[in-house]
Amino acid sequence: MAREKWQSKLGFMLAAMGSAVGLGNIWRFSYVAGENGGGAFLLLYLAFVLLIGIPVLLSEFSIGRQAQSDVVGSYQKLAPKKPWFIQGYMGLICSFLILGFYSVVAGWSLYYFWNYLNTSFFTAPSGGYEAAFGTFITNPISPLFWHGLFMAITILVVLTGVKDGIERASKIFMPTLAVLLVLLAVYSVTLEGAGEGLKFLFQPNWSILEDPSVYLAALGQAFFSLSLGMGGMLTYGSYLSKDESLPSATVGIGLMDTFFAIIAGVVIFPAVFAFNISPESGPNLVFITLPSVFEQMPFGGVVGLVFFFLLCLAALSSSISILEVPVAYFMRKFGWGRTFSSAVLGALMYLLGVAASLGMGRWSDVTLIGDRDIMGSMEFVASDVFLPLGGLIIALFVGWHWSKAEAFEATDMASAGPIRHIWRFLVKFVAPVCIAIIFLSSVGIL
Ligand code: PHE
Ligand code: NA
Repeated sequence: MAREKWQSKLGFMLAAMGSAVGLGNIWRFSYVAGENGGGAFLLLYLAFVLLIGIPVLLSEFSIGRQAQSDVVGSYQKLAPKKPWFIQGYMGLICSFLILGFYSVVAGWSLYYFWNYLNTSFFTAPSGGYEAAFGTFITNPISPLFWHGLFMAITILVVLTGVKDGIERASKIFMPTLAVLLVLLAVYSVTLEGAGEGLKFLFQPNWSILEDPSVYLAALGQAFFSLSLGMGGMLTYGSYLSKDESLPSATVGIGLMDTFFAIIAGVVIFPAVFAFNISPESGPNLVFITLPSVFEQMPFGGVVGLVFFFLLCLAALSSSISILEVPVAYFMRKFGWGRTFSSAVLGALMYLLGVAASLGMGRWSDVTLIGDRDIMGSMEFVASDVFLPLGGLIIALFVGWHWSKAEAFEATDMASAGPIRHIWRFLVKFVAPVCIAIIFLSSVGIL
């Protein structure tokens, strides 16, 4: 059977942007920035996106497109009998870890959407939004339902194949989400006490940079947000034909994703300070902050409804890119059909997510890595270890395994200007060295 293909370059762009923009920009960016002191973290994050993220993203796309295969198959095809395919297996493991917790948080978003739909969140429940959220996520049953519903929708989209599905919808919804976030940002900065939030986000507190864990957090967030280092973008690149040009698409995706994160920060941090919420509230941050903002706004209930609808869609266009990674692999390797692969692999990921979800309540004293709960541990291993490590291997592959000519050819830069030499320098030296230093210093070796 012939491999599937995007119908157009636009289809690829929309799908890749859909993968990038998701809960990572709003939910994860704000809570990780909040936990890591704000301004200085933001600068590190931006530096990593520009110097490492975007150049490595171009590399990841180009590997998939060159090989026209899945995460494991691509390396085996381009470098037979060499160990590069290990990145592929890491990516497969990583896809399980990420969709495991991602679908839980997406389920929370779906629950919020539902509560705006039936208007019960238009005004704060007795005890406030924070308490209501706490009651919800510690409940052993109800979050599993929403999580399951989200996973079922993800499976449904993935089993209909890469060409149809969600990318057409994102053509309308992503710009809508952008406009809505900008309006919310404008509203948020007029809240009383908003200045404190803007200071937190934009005024670096340099002393934070003495802590090596902040670098790892910023690096992990840059990779997570760009969907980078797992093989999702490699797989999407593999459905692209060779006559489309990659560099401009890559830069567009990177900048777009970063724009969403910054704007989300401008929505959330002023509100965090205006409503006296701790910026270090962790993964709960947006779920307790945003409803309070909506409650104060004129027509806030409707705004909340639209917002959570768009957030769920953004999460969906990301989750399908995560599930697609093992689906593509199992289809090729074991000859499974698309429907069977999507259902079986999605169900397994759901089960992993059940553990993460129970870790919020019944299993809340289970800590796996350091003092992280189950979800925190999955997030840490996936985003802060596997993704940057995957990115390191991708950079080494494109920078060192490929010759200069091969690398330029595969990235459509055979006749590009001097920028291609800067790109290659970043991929060959800067990215691997930075990632290695950050890893070594966070385990205390440097
Ligand atoms: N980039 C997505 C987001 O920001 C999450 C994601 C991570 C998707 C890794 C694919 C791979 O929400
Ligand atoms: Na993102």
